[in-house]
Amino acid sequence: MISGFSKLSKVEKIDYLVENYFSGSKRVKSEIKAFWHDNPDSQRIFDEFSENTITNFYCPYGVVPNFLLNDKIHMVPMVIEESSVVAALSKAAKFWTSRGGFRAQVIDTEKLGQVHFMWKGETAKLQKFFDENYENILAHVTPLTKNMEKRGGGLKSMSLVDMTEHEDNYYQIKASFETCDAMGANFINSVLESIGSFLRENIPACDFFSDEEKDVQVVMCILSNYTPNCLVKAWVECGIEELYEPSHEMSAQEFVDKFTRAVRIAQIDVHRATTHNKGIFNGIDGVILATGNDFRAVEACGHTHAARDGQYRSLTKTHVYDGKFRFEIEIPMALGTVGGLTALHPLAKMSLDMLNNPSAKELMMITASVGLAQNFAAIRSLVTSGIQKGHMKMHLMNILNQLEATDNEKEIVRKEFEHKVVSFKAVRDLLESVRALQ
Ligand code: MEV
Repeated sequence: MISGFSKLSKVEKIDYLVENYFSGSKRVKSEIKAFWHDNPDSQRIFDEFSENTITNFYCPYGVVPNFLLNDKIHMVPMVIEESSVVAALSKAAKFWTSRGGFRAQVIDTEKLGQVHFMWKGETAKLQKFFDENYENILAHVTPLTKNMEKRGGGLKSMSLVDMTEHEDNYYQIKASFETCDAMGANFINSVLESIGSFLRENIPACDFFSDEEKDVQVVMCILSNYTPNCLVKAWVECGIEELYEPSHEMSAQEFVDKFTRAVRIAQIDVHRATTHNKGIFNGIDGVILATGNDFRAVEACGHTHAARDGQYRSLTKTHVYDGKFRFEIEIPMALGTVGGLTALHPLAKMSLDMLNNPSAKELMMITASVGLAQNFAAIRSLVTSGIQKGHMKMHLMNILNQLEATDNEKEIVRKEFEHKVVSFKAVRDLLESVRALQ
């Protein structure tokens, strides 16, 4: 046990860790430092994002070119460590570019928050207090909301929710927000805390409550990451015959049947649904990370949406009608293109520049379309060649790097495996024989 770790300087923290967890290894110490930014000012920015930082954890930053969405071409930044994701996405983007591209639409951008509190008494009396004080609550939070109101957002509405059926004396104030181009977590939480303090101050002072009813316990004030009405829809559509590709080794109709069945399986089977949606988040998370958004919030929200009818299901669906194939996703996601990390992280800023500084709504559409594209790529591989072909091709590089292959060795092995099944053992054996000949 160590007390006061956070008070140590960065170098002292590293010394402590290396001494106690890496047997004083000089190599580990220099590896930790090797990942520091050359420029101390830039490094300070990263250090200050979090507590107890000792170094940076690098992740590949890739770009998906020519992503056609709503008739506009985008270069999509992706931060993701999984080898095959950007390649698969690029292929899907290319495939759909020649078939009209992706379409997307934001349905709504409502964010939500809750003040959870305990109060004992007649619900009708609490409702009367809430109704009579509705405008007072709005006035109470005005110092916090006025700037957001100037931008067209703010606290839009509130309701009192009786939760006593689930828990004795439990109520909520559920508040609806518009946060424009900000994700809005800090704004929402500050407003909610202010509503909480209004309740604490004004319920005890209210004349028509009995002494017992004057007692209120605010349990917590916090946004909800489940924002069912911060919703975006994205889709692709083309004639069935346009889906014919020689490499699929089947007719367009067979492809559509297999594809549709695969999506249907993810609608009805929870195990498949989880993997299916994971593939969607391979795409979504890459954009979310690259643009400095909160991928945990987006994941949590997406998964809740996937389980909204009580069973966890696919986030995408297919429609086949009048000789046409349509593939779509509907997903709630709360994103921001101003504030938070988007302004602080130099690469998040660069990603937004690369996307032509989109509004939050535009970023929602890009992100949802990328999730759909990723899902299309995965299902297409699964129902045609199988997933391992593409996966292992990319994974081959990881294996070769792990085995410290030179560029020349990589080239020789890559050629050999062009039409062979990749496995760690097979790659190692081949590399050994190549090395033996050198
Ligand atoms: C791998 O990261 C993602 C997939 O498993 C998704 C899927 O199965 O749909 C390929």
